[in-house]
Amino acid sequence: MSALHVLDALASAQAPPTIPPTWRWLTKWAYFIGLAALIGVPLVHLTVVRPALRAHADGATAERGRRAVHRIIGLGALGFAVVYVFQLASAAARGLEIDYAEALSPVVVWRYLTQPAGDGAWLGAGATTLAQAVLAVAAVALLVPLARRVPARGGDRVVMVAAPIAVAVTLVKSVPVTPEALAAEELVGRLLVQLHIVGGSVWVGGLIALAALTRSRRHIRDADVDVWATIWQRFSVLAMASVGALLVSGAWLTWREVGAIEQFVTTPFGRLLAIKIILVAVLIGFGAFNQLVLIPRLVRLRRSGQMESARHLSMGHLGRIVFAESVIGVLVLLIVGLLTGSARAQADGGEAVVDASVYGWGAAFLVAVVALFAVTARVASFLAERPSATAST
Ligand code: HEM
Repeated sequence: MSALHVLDALASAQAPPTIPPTWRWLTKWAYFIGLAALIGVPLVHLTVVRPALRAHADGATAERGRRAVHRIIGLGALGFAVVYVFQLASAAARGLEIDYAEALSPVVVWRYLTQPAGDGAWLGAGATTLAQAVLAVAAVALLVPLARRVPARGGDRVVMVAAPIAVAVTLVKSVPVTPEALAAEELVGRLLVQLHIVGGSVWVGGLIALAALTRSRRHIRDADVDVWATIWQRFSVLAMASVGALLVSGAWLTWREVGAIEQFVTTPFGRLLAIKIILVAVLIGFGAFNQLVLIPRLVRLRRSGQMESARHLSMGHLGRIVFAESVIGVLVLLIVGLLTGSARAQADGGEAVVDASVYGWGAAFLVAVVALFAVTARVASFLAERPSATAST
């Protein structure tokens, strides 16, 4: 029996389900990787790579660098387009409660997208998915042509227009279509889920983009130590903001889905989530090592004129680390695909009840995360500015 058959047997044999059917976790996993490419890569270009090229690269190098990123953006959008077709069928299968094979038909998907509104709802259940599909087509139509040769400056303008549309592709799914969805607790929940998805997409998409870019480094030659040092420094700030958003929203999602600490061990949902949190902790460990050890070392190497060592560190060492991080990011998303139901439901526990103390704990956690990251940033810049005879220590 293959691993997929075992998973499917588990999915169908138990109630409540502990593992989703293969089509569900595969489409969910692929969708979130695609979303990371669609949202994360353009945003990382606009906030990290483009400013670094503008600040440090000469005209020809900047042109080659932009083209390299545009190509990654275009290919990422193409990948998203492919997986999104299967995600639409998945939404139709779940919405219409039919087999996935049956939902793999444009007619069935259209029937789902244009369903009439149910009792009390303003729009049909497929309406937000229809709006999402329109936005997805717009973003893909703008970005895919970048995979081919287009003028670098014109390409940047396209990315600026497409990036907010790409973010809206996920945000639109949380637009309330029933009066109940307007309750404050529900709105806060939707906001935090979107914060989680956008934060995760920026971080994982950024890691994938930079891992790909370090492998196409022949495009950014010679002027590249300064360019790469700035890229790593800017990305570490963006990654820290994303991790902050993920930790705060992830803590809330965890509280919503897991009712007690022991459910991390006693329920399938809790066990999978525990693995996910461990993987994220490893990612954060890598990020902290980059920010507190490698990037300060890189800055000191540049300052002391040891360009060959700086080049080795910024493209070889950091390139390999970012590749390992992007693989872990993709595994984190695999676990997201495998999560179904909640630990509370699997443990027959009660539903999460939001009260003032939950908002209080949330605010305290937010302040703690911001304070921790502010201290980390100060320590990193102190380490970078530290005068040292041997820049490699
Ligand atoms: C690299 C970091 C992370 C990424 C890329 C990521 C990504 C995601 C995504 C895409 C979802 C699905 C959201 C949805 O469709 O509703 C999700 C759900 C979730 N995440 Fe994360 N996450 C990350 C870190 C974390 C952390 C640190 C925690 C806990 C502190 C966490 C806890 C959760 C929980 C409990 C869910 C809900 C699962 C469910 O209801 O199906 N995540 N995550």
